[in-house]
Amino acid sequence: MSILITGGAGYIGSHTCVTLIEAGYEVIIYDNLSNASHESIKRIEMITEQDITLIEADIQDKQALHKVFETYTIDAVIHFAGLKAVGESVQKPLTYYQNNIAGTLTLLEVMQAHHCKQIVFSSSATVYGDPASCPITEDFPLSATNPYGRSKLFIEEILRDMYRSDTEWKIVLLRYFNPIGAHPSGTIGEDPNGIPNNLVPFIAQTAIGKRDSLAIFGDDYDTHDGTGVRDYIHVMDLAQGHLDALDRISTFSEVMTINLGTGKGYSVLDVLKAFEKSVGKTIPYHIAPRRPGDIASCYADPSYAKKILGWQATRDINQMCQDSWRWQSNNPNGYNKEAQ
Ligand code: NAD
Ligand code: WQD
Repeated sequence: MSILITGGAGYIGSHTCVTLIEAGYEVIIYDNLSNASHESIKRIEMITEQDITLIEADIQDKQALHKVFETYTIDAVIHFAGLKAVGESVQKPLTYYQNNIAGTLTLLEVMQAHHCKQIVFSSSATVYGDPASCPITEDFPLSATNPYGRSKLFIEEILRDMYRSDTEWKIVLLRYFNPIGAHPSGTIGEDPNGIPNNLVPFIAQTAIGKRDSLAIFGDDYDTHDGTGVRDYIHVMDLAQGHLDALDRISTFSEVMTINLGTGKGYSVLDVLKAFEKSVGKTIPYHIAPRRPGDIASCYADPSYAKKILGWQATRDINQMCQDSWRWQSNNPNGYNKEAQ
């Protein structure tokens, strides 16, 4: 089976490629490298001991996409490609709608033209907005508070419309909670540009001395210690979820919408403590004002994933932090080897 992986050079895509290759799938990575590098492809090759086909192109480039489907027999697509920075999306909504929504429309048009009708889409827990309660099941009300989140909501709706128009489509919407961690080898991991927006990359860069102190955004939330609670999930567990979805996709007779989370909520301080344990030293932090748009708590009810995919997360918060730290300490400047 050949799988086209859009955004396969990125954080979640690269880990998923490793898992799929090890399970015997052939992967073709399609990525414009707007938020990734050739180095991540080399690292996937190192881990899997296989040559990887990379098509360096944009999902908005219809001709380039047609050529891929003409050249290879693609059985299914995993669609990771997209821009994902919430704050940037507020500043540049058109860029986000163009890249994420228009890009997906082009991809779907080309897939349809080549009768490839199986797609796994990277959605997000952000589509639950500010949930009324936790744990969150897939039937919770949906909303968005920023253009990034709205792009995910729209794409989910577009994919449901594709299915309504033609029930031969096999569509899985995977709603990820907060992916962290790295491949246990420490060879691939998350490599954010500039100052990290997300908690664990910021903690990791503080631990290695690139940042002075972690700003904890608010300690007066209605949570067990006042700091925000999230469902952190190991990226290798997420990768396994994609494999399980692909293995079953041909059997699905409706659009499948599935939470991928652990079902456990950890506060910012809980994560900091687990990370300190991995590093073996304390990490400086200070309390800062709440970050606009943040919510108090968000964690999944992952029981549907277990029922439908036979999937459940197996790695705990300590393993997530140990693997993030191994990646960070082996690669202080991410994939930019020249700077190391
Ligand atoms: P990432 O930025 O590391 O990976 C995305 C990849 O897509 C990058 O390699 C980038 O170069 C590529 N890309 C972007 N626009 C493209 C385009 N127009 N054409 C071709 N390639 C393009 O991000 P990630 O964390 O691996 O996220 C993967 C997917 O999962 C995204 O769709 C993201 O929105 C979604 N998601 C991520 C998180 C998270 O916290 N990381 C949570 C929920 C959902
Ligand atoms: C986690 C917690 C912060 C940084 C974002 C997107 C979401 C999804 C995942 C793609 C919160 C606190 C953070 C820092 C802090 N992405 N924090 N200091 O906000 O849950 O979700 O990434 O779909 O759409 O919004 O993740 O890692 O930014 O924050 O105190 O420097 O850590 O307030 O409580 P978030 P995050």
